[in-house]
Amino acid sequence: MSGPVLLTGAGGRIGTVLRGGLPERGWALRSLDVAPLTDVRPGEEEVVADVTDLAAVLDAVAGASAVVHLAGVSGESTWPVISHANIEGTYCALEAARRAGVERVVLASSNHATGYTPRPDGGLLREVDAPPRPDTYYGVSKVAMEALGSLYADRYGMDVVCLRIGSAFPEPTTVRMLATWLSPGDQVGLVDAALRAPSPGFAVVWGVSANTRNWWDLTAARALGYEPADDAEVFAEALVEAHGAPDPADPVHRLVGGQYTLPEFDAEHFS
Ligand SMILES: NC(=O)c1ccc[n+]([C@@H]2O[C@H](COP(=O)([O-])OP(=O)(O)OC[C@H]3O[C@@H](n4cnc5c(N)ncnc54)[C@H](O)[C@@H]3O)[C@@H](O)[C@H]2O)c1
Repeated sequence: MSGPVLLTGAGGRIGTVLRGGLPERGWALRSLDVAPLTDVRPGEEEVVADVTDLAAVLDAVAGASAVVHLAGVSGESTWPVISHANIEGTYCALEAARRAGVERVVLASSNHATGYTPRPDGGLLREVDAPPRPDTYYGVSKVAMEALGSLYADRYGMDVVCLRIGSAFPEPTTVRMLATWLSPGDQVGLVDAALRAPSPGFAVVWGVSANTRNWWDLTAARALGYEPADDAEVFAEALVEAHGAPDPADPVHRLVGGQYTLPEFDAEHFS
């Protein structure tokens, strides 16, 4: 693999973790964000650009070996904001990669693409059993992301890996996150696997750690080479004591999207 990985949204929460961990695994980074980075690392290239500016992304992707696309609005907002940043932005990332001959793109999708899916009643939910069922405009943008990725894989033969990320935080802060946590170390491991997997074609995989309380099946992610190292259970006692045990009748615990499925995420709250 020659050329750096173009990392969009590099200054955000996950981008900052990846900028810490991917170089140790041999990946040189070209880090793009609309906001200047405050902590450019040795050997890191920086690009300040808007990912919805196709010409700018085309410049940024020249000579790259792959794209990891994180940039966008990372929670619910108005339709104009979400559709522009997340759908137009994903189109620009994929189209720039295609025009530059970059054959692999890793996309930061979300569990909210399937948020109204009921959690399995025992057992594990596979990606193929969770078709699009978005819980918000944000979730719709992740469905569009996966659809665009599928199009570019089928039509142009690109490798496109969509990571349906759970909760990427330093540590779990709610009892729901005991099932959805993706630890910082496992964020790096998952993206590394998505970049390295031989010829994955189009793939959609859940992005969580090896949590004791997982309801997502990690078989497809492991098939890429992902070996999760962390388990949120070490935080369980303190979180359950602070917040109470999860109530399976509560939509926050009954549906994949958790609190995003509640009325407080209705559109009028974001106008
Ligand atoms: N953190 C999670 O738990 C989680 C879960 C599921 C999916 N994701 C997805 O992973 C990605 C990264 O998440 P995060 O938590 O790091 O988000 P974040 O909000 O911390 O970071 C997003 C970054 O994207 C940049 N950005 C926004 N619009 C941009 C634009 N138009 N052009 C260039 N840069 C732009 C921001 O400046 C920011 O640095 C997002 O796509 C998010 O939807 C995150």
